[in-house]
Amino acid sequence: MLKELGIETGVSGAFDGTWLKTTGEVLDSTSPINLEKIGSINTATDTDYEKVITASVETFKRWRTVPAPKRGEIVRQMGEAMRHKKKELGALITWEMGKISAEGEGEVQEAIDIADFAVGLSRQLYGLTMHSERPGHRMYEQWHPLGPVGVISAFNFPMAVWAWNSMLGAVCGDTIIWKPSEQVPFSAIAINSVCSKVAADHGFPGLFTLLIDKSGEHGKKLATDSRVPLVSATGSCRMGRSVAEVVAKRFGRAILELGGNNAVVVLNDADLNLVVPSILFGAVGTAGQRCTTVRRILVEPKIKDELIKKLINGYSQVKIGDPRQKGILMGPLINNTAIELYKDTIAKVKSLGGKILCGGNLKKDMPSPLFVEPTIVEVDKNCPLLKEEVFAPIVYVVTVTGGIDEALEVHNDVPQGLSSAIFTKDLQKAEQFLSAAGSDCGIANVNIGTSGAEIGGAFGGEKETGGGRESGSDSWRQYMRRQTCTINYSNDVPLAQGISFLL
Ligand code: UN1
Repeated sequence: MLKELGIETGVSGAFDGTWLKTTGEVLDSTSPINLEKIGSINTATDTDYEKVITASVETFKRWRTVPAPKRGEIVRQMGEAMRHKKKELGALITWEMGKISAEGEGEVQEAIDIADFAVGLSRQLYGLTMHSERPGHRMYEQWHPLGPVGVISAFNFPMAVWAWNSMLGAVCGDTIIWKPSEQVPFSAIAINSVCSKVAADHGFPGLFTLLIDKSGEHGKKLATDSRVPLVSATGSCRMGRSVAEVVAKRFGRAILELGGNNAVVVLNDADLNLVVPSILFGAVGTAGQRCTTVRRILVEPKIKDELIKKLINGYSQVKIGDPRQKGILMGPLINNTAIELYKDTIAKVKSLGGKILCGGNLKKDMPSPLFVEPTIVEVDKNCPLLKEEVFAPIVYVVTVTGGIDEALEVHNDVPQGLSSAIFTKDLQKAEQFLSAAGSDCGIANVNIGTSGAEIGGAFGGEKETGGGRESGSDSWRQYMRRQTCTINYSNDVPLAQGISFLL
C-alpha cells in the first residue's frame, strides 16, 4: 500500500521540499489492528529541524507573492490529487490508526472537502472598506499572508486536521510545517507527499514541510520558534496548555483544538429513531476516539428506560473486529496506553458505584489485544468521572429530573466545551439549548449527534477545549494578518478626533 502511494519503507522523518537523510532515533509504526509493522523511520534531528524551518521561511517569501486565486488553482489540483488517491489514503488511515474503512475514506473526503472550500475562498479573502471621518481620505483593510504555520496534530484524524490547516493556510499565502502524532507517521508522510508533489510541480516544493519525532520535542520547538507566527495544535488539554503558554510568551498566535466532553440531551418528547443511531455513531464510531465523541447522555426519566433498552440492543449488534472487513463497525483502540485508560476508567466506575449497563470488558479473540467492548455506564449527576475526557468508547447515562433547566446545568458543568446536542420536538426547548443561556459549547446541534461535523462551519470549542476555530466559516482570518490602510488624496493634513496641531 505504501508503494502505491509512492512511499518507500525506511523513508525519512523530515521533508523540506526533499526527503532529508535523517539520523534521529528510529520510530516504528505498527498497526493497532494486528500489531503488524507498517515501517520504520529515522526521526528528525535538530539539524533537520533547522533545514525544515529555513525551507518554510524561504518558500513563504515566494509563495506570499503568488496571487491568491492562483494559489487556489494549485490547491484545486491538490484536491484532485487526493481524490485520485482516496481509496489508498483511506486504507492507510485504517491500517495505521484503526478506524473502519468507511471512516478512513470519510476522513480523506473531509480533506478533499476543505480543499474545495479553500479554492472558493481564494477569491473571497475579503476586507472591509470604511468611511473616513477626514475629508479627502479613504480607509480600507486588507489581509496579507502571515508566515510559516506550525501544525501539531493528533493520531485520531491523521490527515483531515492537517488538511484543514494546510489547505486554508495555502490559499492564504502561508507555508505549513507539520509535526504529526508519532502514532501515525506514514499517514502524514502519505498525504503530505500527495499534496507536496502538486506544490513541487508548480515550483514550491517547500510549501508543506514535515517533521517526525518520537516524544514531541519538535512540537515544543515550533511553539518557541518566533519564525513561526501561528501554531495550530490539536490534542490533549495538557499539551495545549503548554503550547499556549509558550506561544503567548513570544506574542505568537495559537489555534487550540483540545479535549471535548460532549453531551447529548434527550428530552421526554425526543424521537428515539433519531436519537439511537446518532448516539451509536457518536459514541461507538472511531471506537470513541474523536474529540467530538458522545461521552455523556443526559436523559429525562420518562424516556430513559426505553432509550437504554434500544441503545443496549444497538450496542449488541455492533460488529467489532478488523476494521478493514465489511460489516465491522468498531476497530481497535490506538495503543496499550488507551487500553490501560479504558481498564482504569471501568475500575473507577465500579469503585464509585456506577452501573455498567453493557460492555466493560476487553474484547477477546481479536487480531490484537487492543480491542474493547463499547460500554454504557449509568452514574448520577455528581459522579466525578463525568468531568473527564477518556478517549475510549465509554458513554455515561445520567438522569435529569429538573427538565431542560437542570439538563443545561449538568450539561455545562464540565471543564470542556467542544460539541453538544439536544433531541426534542419542542421548538422552545431547542431554542433554549441554542440560546445565550444554553449550551456553552463551540458546536450545538438539534436532533443530530455531536460528532461528524461538516467542514463548512467553524470547528472548535470553549473553556479547556482551547477557544480555537479551524476549518470553515471565517477561520481563514487567523492564517492572515490584517492591515488597516488610510489614504489621503487631499492637499491637507486634517487630524482625526478633531485635533488641531498647527505651528
Ligand atoms: C477530531 O476529533 O479532532 O466532527 C476532529 C467530527 C470530524 C472532525 C473530528 N469532522 O467528528
